[in-house]
Amino acid sequence: PTDVGICAIHVVVPSLYVDQTDLERYNRVSEGKYTVGLGQKQMGFCTDLEDVNSLCLTAVSQLVENNGLSYSDIGRLEVGTETIVDKSKSAKTVLMKLFEASGNFQVEGIDTTNACYGGTAALFNALSWIESSAWDGRLAVVVAADIAVYAEGNARPTGGAGAVAMLIGPGAALVIERGLRGTYMNHAYDFYKPDLSSEYPMVDGKLSVDCYLNALDRCYESYLSKCRGGDVGLNRFDSFVFHAPYCKLVRKSLARLYMYDFVNGVGAKDEQHQQRDWADVEKMYVELSRTVFEDKTEPSLLLASRVGNTYTASVYSGLASYLLSVSPERLPGKRIGVFSYGSGLASSMFSIKVVDNGSLPGLIGNLKKGVDRLEGRKRLAPEQFADVLDVRQKSLHRAPYAPTGDRGQLFPGTWFLSNIDEMHRRYYERN
Ligand code: ACO
Repeated sequence: PTDVGICAIHVVVPSLYVDQTDLERYNRVSEGKYTVGLGQKQMGFCTDLEDVNSLCLTAVSQLVENNGLSYSDIGRLEVGTETIVDKSKSAKTVLMKLFEASGNFQVEGIDTTNACYGGTAALFNALSWIESSAWDGRLAVVVAADIAVYAEGNARPTGGAGAVAMLIGPGAALVIERGLRGTYMNHAYDFYKPDLSSEYPMVDGKLSVDCYLNALDRCYESYLSKCRGGDVGLNRFDSFVFHAPYCKLVRKSLARLYMYDFVNGVGAKDEQHQQRDWADVEKMYVELSRTVFEDKTEPSLLLASRVGNTYTASVYSGLASYLLSVSPERLPGKRIGVFSYGSGLASSMFSIKVVDNGSLPGLIGNLKKGVDRLEGRKRLAPEQFADVLDVRQKSLHRAPYAPTGDRGQLFPGTWFLSNIDEMHRRYYERN
């Protein structure tokens, strides 16, 4: 098969959000700490009516419906998530409920987990399947979904929630370039979830940022070493999307790649750079790379700034945001760099080439349906947000349990958790 890649994308955003300026006041931090310091505008969240299974059900069913697919067209379904509700039963098996009516039970794939990297691992699995002898000619679906919540404190404003479902197949408009992948994996305790009775991670924030930036350097070096011909540096890319824990880190990441190019002789040399303090160097490159950032990366931050970190879905939300920022007729020929990072740690860089195969207007039109929901969300007060997190924390793993969230607040077509019985079996309905 040729031109294997992403044929369609669907984004699910939560119907509720809290404003970051409201959170700054509520948490009594200095004005601008979350909005300027972290670069965040709003944060999406879910009540106890939604869990990772319901987010995946919503994402996959809407991807299938919006793109006029049949469940029997799908031969592989992969889930990437770090929001675990069951240590044995995968979210993928819950999604098989959607396939029942079609009679298609021949669907490979299960869940993949490593912090925010699971979606990328799931995507790589789907691509490998299509390029392998096991491929039966059908399409693959990858869904990345997470509910990112933190204990009270500095990390809490960097939460979020959401899902991205992608249809993977040959003849795609968004072709994943073959042979061009940089990967860096290592052992680190920067962010992890050893307490299975809590949704909250253990996080060493500063270490996680260092690990992220180091992984970025290593993946970039490895990716560039595989490039044959053409520009070897940022000029190679029309856009660069990053995993986005918060927008300020993405701003610094682009500056980091810009600096890498300088140091390695792609750009003009900065002789004094070695003698300066690191924070100054960072500031300087953030300034020097301003126009490159505005051109190649800022448009990818629409969802990250207004929904927050969606963990496995984050980098694909970045891709979706970028695609919507360019008119479809200007997309063909563009190359998009992608950097995916999951704490612990696993990271990869790859690139997507946009191909004009007639399907782009449809792809973009369908993508817009999900992202347009941003405008229809309900803003809740920080007190209400804190109450929702309290309910989630207290009800986690309780059985039997009837969720208390307001179903009227969900968007139409959203799957939700209607009940958990005494055997911990979860039941879902659709709004
Ligand atoms: N106005 C403007 N800027 C401000 C203000 C203000 N009032 N107050 C602080 N700032 C700036 C700081 O100067 C700093 O800027 P810098 O990064 O350019 O130095 C920035 O805001 C952050 O403030 P800090 O005090 O350095 O950090 P904080 O204690 O708020 O913690 C952190 C930030 C570590 C990111 C925390 O939110 C966290 O742990 N988040 C979760 C972990 C995470 O997201 N890691 C990233 C990779 S792993 C992953 O995806 C989960």
